[in-house]
Amino acid sequence: MNKIGIIGAMELEVAALKEQMNCTRRLTCAGMEFWEGTLNGANVVIVQSGIGKVLAGICVQILADKFEVTHVINTGVAGSLNADLDIGDIVVSQDAVYHDFNVTPLGYAPGQVPGRSEVAFTADPALISAAMESCKRVNPDIHCLVGRIASGDQFISDKTTKERIIRGFAGYCAEMEGCAIAQAATANSIPFVIIRAISDKADDSAEMDYPTFEKAAAHHSALLVADMVQRI
Ligand code: ADE
Repeated sequence: MNKIGIIGAMELEVAALKEQMNCTRRLTCAGMEFWEGTLNGANVVIVQSGIGKVLAGICVQILADKFEVTHVINTGVAGSLNADLDIGDIVVSQDAVYHDFNVTPLGYAPGQVPGRSEVAFTADPALISAAMESCKRVNPDIHCLVGRIASGDQFISDKTTKERIIRGFAGYCAEMEGCAIAQAATANSIPFVIIRAISDKADDSAEMDYPTFEKAAAHHSALLVADMVQRI
């Protein structure tokens, strides 16, 4: 039986999903509140992880160990790194990389985690397809691309850093949890996908745009996730 772990870093990224779900059990673990129940007929555990890579990784491990989830979906917002992606548009992860993981002095590629041959963590093809189907259905006017998520413990709000990440990692958007969720899910052999709606352009306008657009963007992503759980 499938059980889908749904992670948002911030309350506004999971609030709409919690409202829609039928919650049968709440459990607090590592300071995170896990809401277990059903959403549109699917078994789900919805949780706000908190911001950043460490909390995101802890969150996935709890979903794996305590809830035995079969799939992981990360929903939220991100800064755009791609000129084709405007505020409100959506990125579905092809894969995820760390833009701040650097063991290059020891001969590793930028972003490469020692012990792995690949730099990127690849998302599950069936979850990517389900997300794209749902995007067409629930957000028909929203531009939705499959691409690379670039994660780091950093809010990107200047052009120089943005361009370094684009050049070095070919990311479509920047955020702060996706790759940690990808790494922890991969370590537990759990298929994952990351869904991120664009809240800002990850440049000098980001500090102004983010607070203005985060709520609407988070809602776009959550709408998509509420629909796609029925397809898993
Ligand atoms: N989440 C939303 N916008 C972001 C940005 N510009 N950098 C990192 N995380 C983000």
